[in-house]
Amino acid sequence: MSNELDRRSFLKISALAGALIGLPGLACTRSGKTDIDAILEKISLNVPGTGKSVMGMAAPPIDQVKVGVIGLGNRGSGMIYHVQALFPDKATITAICDIRQKQVEEALSYLKENGQNPAVYSGTEDAWKEMVQRDDIDLVLIMTNWKLHTPMCVYAMQQGKHVAVEVPAAITVEECWQLVNTSEETQRHCMMMENVCYGSEELWVLNMVKKGVFGTITYAEAAYIHNLLWMLFGDSYYHKWRIRHHVKHDGNLYPTHGLGPVAWYMDIQRGDHFEYLTSMSSLQASLTEYAKTVDPENEFYNRTDFKHGDLNTSLIKTSQGRMITLKHDVATPRPYNRINAIAGTMGYHEGYPSRLAVNEYGHGWVEEEVYREYREKYEHPIWKNMRVEIEKHGGHGGMDFVLVYRIIDNLNKGLPLDQDVYDAAAWSVITPLSEISVELEGTPVKFPDFSRGKWQEPRELQVFKR
Ligand SMILES: NC(=O)c1ccc[n+]([C@@H]2O[C@H](COP(=O)([O-])OP(=O)(O)OC[C@H]3O[C@@H](n4cnc5c(N)ncnc54)[C@H](O)[C@@H]3O)[C@@H](O)[C@H]2O)c1
Repeated sequence: MSNELDRRSFLKISALAGALIGLPGLACTRSGKTDIDAILEKISLNVPGTGKSVMGMAAPPIDQVKVGVIGLGNRGSGMIYHVQALFPDKATITAICDIRQKQVEEALSYLKENGQNPAVYSGTEDAWKEMVQRDDIDLVLIMTNWKLHTPMCVYAMQQGKHVAVEVPAAITVEECWQLVNTSEETQRHCMMMENVCYGSEELWVLNMVKKGVFGTITYAEAAYIHNLLWMLFGDSYYHKWRIRHHVKHDGNLYPTHGLGPVAWYMDIQRGDHFEYLTSMSSLQASLTEYAKTVDPENEFYNRTDFKHGDLNTSLIKTSQGRMITLKHDVATPRPYNRINAIAGTMGYHEGYPSRLAVNEYGHGWVEEEVYREYREKYEHPIWKNMRVEIEKHGGHGGMDFVLVYRIIDNLNKGLPLDQDVYDAAAWSVITPLSEISVELEGTPVKFPDFSRGKWQEPRELQVFKR
């Protein structure tokens, strides 16, 4: 690292250490390489907690899960439909909250039409706290903007509630540790709702991985590539919360949709572990150019101060030597893509569109007929057993319904949830780690071990246990 980068980066990294990483004691004031190394080392250190591991934890069965919902915007207003689908046998919504009265009224009207009558909370920034204190809630679903995820999860767990939170669960290293430590201290579930793990293609690929179709898994490529320009600049997100992250941060802001399924393919936290990453971003141009075209009344009109490059790419190395390429691009005309590529010694799959190559069929993709045979033979039991119900309810091709069903069903039966707080932390921490690496010109950044060494114990994924 050059002296100039050393000096420049140190100043920035010190600021980042306080704001982004959030860990106490990181914001040093001296300059020099040693200090940057010390900061990088500290990022990967364990933050002590007082609880016991929740890996594999099961809570007592709950016949009908009483659900409280916070955040009824684009996502929340759709997700209550899937909880409603499980009413009254498996779940009921006892309370709903959104800072905006209109969102609450619309949700209430829909739920009333369908036989439910939840208590409503609205109008103030903290109304959700009152809701979370209620005795008649087992599970809080959190579907607000990213900054509110961890504070809401932590408070709800402290009130004795299980939580399921939208992606990403946390946006700083400190927040990741808060989730882990609070879940361990309260012995409450904290699941990040990574719906893509439940896609029919993803669960099919997962099943093939576990049945050995791909041989030894060596690398993967994943992404969140989705042109969101009109949404970022428009009024779709409450107070335009999402584009504000693009002004302040340059890294992978939304890592988990592509990464979650890959983490399952690779047994991350179940025998393997994200070891370190290196990250780089392209030139930023799309946001600036689009900003010229929006209404002059728009607060982002003609703005040029966007920090986030059009494409961010991170390379993640795992402890077992595997590699993942992870991309984030929400600003270019590139068509929607999560890539969903997984490579092994005997096979390879790539999505968009889904294609399969296996050694026994020679070079190239297998023909349509063979592909169909593999799809049928290795369809995941969840999809095989519930296809009709899943297709009836849908939600991103059915993955949203499966996600909600699995959370509620596991709680009904007193089983561990499919994704635990260690998954939430390890998948979400990509955001701050990639930002640090981008800032340091691609310097490798080591991951914290949220499992405190327990990742080394092989564990079967819950989605295969029944
Ligand atoms: N898994 C998926 O496929 C998927 C899809 C879309 C969005 N998401 C995630 O869902 C979350 C919400 O995204 P969105 O598009 O619905 O955003 P949104 O802005 O439409 O919704 C957020 C809601 O939170 C409410 N809110 C804000 N502050 C609040 C407070 N203090 N108390 C109560 N309510 C408050 C807002 O009024 C708004 O209705 C994000 O984390 C996003 O990444 C996930």
